Amino acid sequence: MDWGMKNRLARILRPADGHTVMLAVDHGYFLGPISRLERPAETIEPLLPHADALMPARGVVRNCIEAAADIPIVLRVSGGNSIVGEDLSKEDITTSVEEAIRLNASAMALSIYVGGKYEHQTLVNLSRLVDEGNRYGIPVLAVTAVGKELAKRDARYLGLACRIAAELGASFVKTYYCENFEKVANGSLVPLVIAGGPKLDTVYDAFRIAHEAMSAGAAGVDFGRNIWQAENPVATVRAVRAIVHDEADAKAAGELYDELVGGSKKKK
Ligand code: R5P
Repeated sequence: MDWGMKNRLARILRPADGHTVMLAVDHGYFLGPISRLERPAETIEPLLPHADALMPARGVVRNCIEAAADIPIVLRVSGGNSIVGEDLSKEDITTSVEEAIRLNASAMALSIYVGGKYEHQTLVNLSRLVDEGNRYGIPVLAVTAVGKELAKRDARYLGLACRIAAELGASFVKTYYCENFEKVANGSLVPLVIAGGPKLDTVYDAFRIAHEAMSAGAAGVDFGRNIWQAENPVATVRAVRAIVHDEADAKAAGELYDELVGGSKKKK
């Protein structure tokens, strides 16, 4: 691997432990202004000191993030779909590698829809993006998207999708946590980060998932809604950080969260 590629990856997956706490804020590219991301700058700013990397599309980068911010950007470069459109899997590359370089991106992120109507298109897109990224030393994060079919999130399916992403050259893969996640991690070839998905009932559920994923071989999280839609986003990300970087279990993370929000009373 060339120096530039290694250097960019090391900004995301921290060299001390190879782990990362990524903050996903790219949802607007197909969901529009969802709750708490109506004004992304206000949501993102207090969380930046506690994240290792940020995952936005270019609109949020240019309009909502200070250019002086010291945060690696994993730039969402696929899209062209919407929640009200024909099929979520109908994605293409929407941002050029030159644009990623202009924005000083540390990595480029693109969704693949294994088993989806436009599976072939998204997998070929991934391969092309990897070729472009390799030319300039920019790693690619493949996101194993499932569209509206959340039921597909089992170890057999996610293991298949993650391995295909790695075989096509992704440097790391974002996927969902599932039962028997060890199987997904074992066959993935490259580091995995997990998405949080729609907001869970409590932050303690998010801590449990984060801890179980890390114990099963994940390299980190790329959480969005379960952080910034939580009642106390800063306390939540700090507790997740303790799991990812300090080997805290879900209980210890919950206690840290309680302490940070100022009492033992459990809050959502
Ligand atoms: C979806 O494709 C987007 O990449 C989101 O960034 C992703 O789902 C992660 O965010 P969340 O933790 O809210 O699911």
